[in-house]
Amino acid sequence: MKVLSCNSNRPIAEAISAYLNLPLTSASIRRFSDMEVFVEIDENVRGEDVFVIQSTSFPANDNLMELLVTMDALKRGSARRITAVMPYFGYARQDRKSGPRTPISAKLVANLITESGADRVLTLDLHAGQIQGFFDIPLDNLYAAPVFIKDIKDKYNGDDLIMVSPDVGGVVRARAFAKGLNTDLAIIDKRREKAGESEVMNIIGDVGGRRCILIDDIVDSGGTLCNAAVALMDQGAQSVSAYITHGVLSGGAVARISASPIETLIATDSITATEAMRVAHNISQITIAPLIAEAIRRISDENSVSSLFEISI
Ligand code: R5P
Repeated sequence: MKVLSCNSNRPIAEAISAYLNLPLTSASIRRFSDMEVFVEIDENVRGEDVFVIQSTSFPANDNLMELLVTMDALKRGSARRITAVMPYFGYARQDRKSGPRTPISAKLVANLITESGADRVLTLDLHAGQIQGFFDIPLDNLYAAPVFIKDIKDKYNGDDLIMVSPDVGGVVRARAFAKGLNTDLAIIDKRREKAGESEVMNIIGDVGGRRCILIDDIVDSGGTLCNAAVALMDQGAQSVSAYITHGVLSGGAVARISASPIETLIATDSITATEAMRVAHNISQITIAPLIAEAIRRISDENSVSSLFEISI
């Protein structure tokens, strides 16, 4: 078994390697002067079970290309089995035709990953479960829920807690947290009655006087989360915090969240924290590396991965 890291998230790769007590395979992944990706694996990989760690986060296209070229190098180096370990799977939100003459980019990315040599894929909180079906190779999707639920249990107690889904699409995820923590659930229903009119936020559930915890898979611009937090405070919530698997945090997201009523936003380290994120007063990371490392070990040993989870979403 070998674990190799591309460049998008070295810290999580190093943490996974430490957990497995297995040094990262030496490889040089660099750019030619015109920015083409070049990869050279410095160790023999013939017959090996190789796990390649790469989040296809910003810059998504460069990071995706690094993953594809690395797997091509491994395939041509006669690796026995290649697993693409993608703590953050970019392009996942483009999982259907959103209008006429638009692409299904998540499917295209799945094809590229398979074609470049992956035999398996390991992901974390895939934006949409059906993306698993875009691959004709096995895909194991892990959940951050057990790690988050433990953290919530350690930090909060009392029966005034309530889990909140910031939109209707996230209800299943938030409900699993409510079940795991034995709390109530509230749902924010965003609606734009007419084009050009501002969005109306209806809150389903009573959040008055409650400590609200928003649950979502991705925070990107922060718009969804900040608007939800304002709506909850307007309805008399005592406080609002958030647990989000993937801190994409593009553009002015960190500033937006810092200025919002969100007390704390906790994201996993599926995406490397930027400097702005590191210094933000109300954003922090919790590591998901042991969970991913344990899944890698189980895949390599041909043991069950699903038994890692008491809660399925
Ligand atoms: C949407 O379906 C996702 O679960 C997130 O709510 C969304 O991607 C967040 O994006 P933003 O932070 O830009 O509002």
